[in-house]
Amino acid sequence: MAERLQKLIAQAGLASRRQAEKWIEEGKVIVNGCPAKLGDRADLSLDKVQVEGQELGKAQEKITVLLNKPRGYVSTLKDPEGRRLVTDLLNDIPQRLFPVGRLDYNTEGLLLLTNDGDLAYRISHPRHNVEKTYLVKVRGTLTAKMVKQLEHGVILEDGMTAPAKVNNIRTTGSGCWFEIIIHEGKNRQVRRMCEVLGLTVVRLKRIQLDFLDLKGVPTGRYRLLSVAEMRRLEKIK
Ligand code: URA
Repeated sequence: MAERLQKLIAQAGLASRRQAEKWIEEGKVIVNGCPAKLGDRADLSLDKVQVEGQELGKAQEKITVLLNKPRGYVSTLKDPEGRRLVTDLLNDIPQRLFPVGRLDYNTEGLLLLTNDGDLAYRISHPRHNVEKTYLVKVRGTLTAKMVKQLEHGVILEDGMTAPAKVNNIRTTGSGCWFEIIIHEGKNRQVRRMCEVLGLTVVRLKRIQLDFLDLKGVPTGRYRLLSVAEMRRLEKIK
């Protein structure tokens, strides 16, 4: 049966659907020798589909890992500046995995990597409202007024943020720690929300994503998600 190319690419575990759409637009997807257009379909039993020279085969076993990302790693598959990649921490995994969303170079914590494009799409698409909890340390004081602003939503250059939840505020000598729960995934969202309030983030760690947390996974290490956890993620609507 013919399926949309971005779906076939995601099922083959090469990338998320969104990334696959970009590849199609960039002319990197070739069907029977001709560059494909967005919206094209193919049937893998009849058509030869190549992505950057690699032929799409049958769907491979799907795996997802939960990594506790350290600071100083980029969560992309390549880095023009030659910095360390999160995939360098998965040396003993033979499958080619890609990160589900991004954490900044200096953000730590929970990052999923998968070869399941559908799963990546479901988790990262704002429509699905997946909750992410970040532990934040800022210089200075988080005032009650600032908490209200974060909870109400702040205006960033790419629009207003949705209401967030702020918990567990603790003041220390040099600053203030708190937890913030958001369900959007705007670029550098937490840092930018803090900047708008005049706060500088000195530490940022994602500690929870939906029902997943970092328990038992030290910094720089990862674990495979269980089948039950994968099923639970598949149910995210
Ligand atoms: N918000 C940020 O500012 N950075 C991240 O890496 C994740 C969320």
